[in-house]
Amino acid sequence: MHPSQILNTAIETHHPAAAACLSALGRRMFFPIGIPAQAAQAKSAKINATIGQLTNGHGAALPLAAIADHLRDISLEDTTLYSPQGGNKALRAAWGEHLAKKGDGPMTSPFCTVGLTHGLSLLADLFVDNDTDVILPSPGWGNYDHIFGVKAGGRIHRYPVFDDGIFDPNAMSTALEKIQNKGVVLLNFPGNPTGYTPTPEQLAPWLEAIRNCEKPIVVICDDAYAGFVYEPGHLDRSPFHDLADADPNRVLTVKVDGATKELCFFGGRVGFVSFGTSGEAGQALDTKIKGMARATVSTGPAVSQALVLSALNSPDLAKQQADIFALSLKRYRSLKRCLAEAKIDTLPFNSGFFALIPVKGDPETLRLNLLNDGVGVVAFPQHGAIRVAFSSIANDDIPKLVNALAKHIERQI
Ligand SMILES: Cc1ncc(COP(=O)(O)O)c(C=O)c1O
Repeated sequence: MHPSQILNTAIETHHPAAAACLSALGRRMFFPIGIPAQAAQAKSAKINATIGQLTNGHGAALPLAAIADHLRDISLEDTTLYSPQGGNKALRAAWGEHLAKKGDGPMTSPFCTVGLTHGLSLLADLFVDNDTDVILPSPGWGNYDHIFGVKAGGRIHRYPVFDDGIFDPNAMSTALEKIQNKGVVLLNFPGNPTGYTPTPEQLAPWLEAIRNCEKPIVVICDDAYAGFVYEPGHLDRSPFHDLADADPNRVLTVKVDGATKELCFFGGRVGFVSFGTSGEAGQALDTKIKGMARATVSTGPAVSQALVLSALNSPDLAKQQADIFALSLKRYRSLKRCLAEAKIDTLPFNSGFFALIPVKGDPETLRLNLLNDGVGVVAFPQHGAIRVAFSSIANDDIPKLVNALAKHIERQI
């Protein structure tokens, strides 16, 4: 039997929803027993003439000093040799432990990707083709359209996060009705560009609708901004954990997260994909995604994976993350206060890095006027709004930013 058929049979038997949702490419995919697989098998061979990397002849690194001199305190093997397909094993285990603190449902070992975008793109390859309905948040991150629509060719539908400025309890059940054969649903809390995270009570009808969806769906929880929730009472963990008990005949949940924002390592490009299942289906899905990554980037950069692993093992990490959170919270509170004083309305925001400000005039004109005054924001004409990233503004500059907004927003009306 072809290796892809073996994987498909395992998935069909142990996770019917995942099997029903696979794209044509996803069904074809397998992990070839090529060089990485053969090299992994020969790892403890006395003479290992498998992989094409330059070593000292006994498996140790042979880096140039011009590179190695800048790499301190981390093993040169972990930084300058290839990382295994799927990522540094110790890193995968450590990220798995990091996630297990929030819930104990079934989960595959986090698969290491080159940033979260890469993880989302691999999932689009695995689960989206022309007859897949892809349900995206609106407002939502623009790159979702690019990944799931432009690149993967799915039928895009948008569900409103807010109805008249309030979290919309019916949005998910209405959106799920659009699914004809199989679907992919994107959840993103804290949201980009909304900066919003619902309360568990607000999210409950969405989760209920997902659990009862009549068509097989893959629910992708994009947890890029995990941990940055500033108000009590709002979700303090991903919906991924709440969907752990979803029926595998209907729903496959997947968690996409990573070091980009959580560990403030934007340029590191270390992300993870974890499937909400275990056993044979989990192994088969892990092998499918490994095959997909092998066909695109092969394996991710070892050096940034090694740095993330060091961070996870650092006894000081929690304190350092708390400091970053405190800095972000301060900016959030300043922005809230200044906007309230200036009587500038926003959509609800309580988390993440952004605030979305509805404007009466053309957001693009407003953006250009602000730019003329030395203030950069992002225009969202489709939502009649601008997005302010308070994550990247010094606290002292927030009153100046809001003054500029007040000046130009008034001029628009
Ligand atoms: C909601 C959301 N998901 C994913 C990403 C992508 O993360 P990465 O930079 O790790 O690819 C971003 C980045 O801005 C984002 O806002």
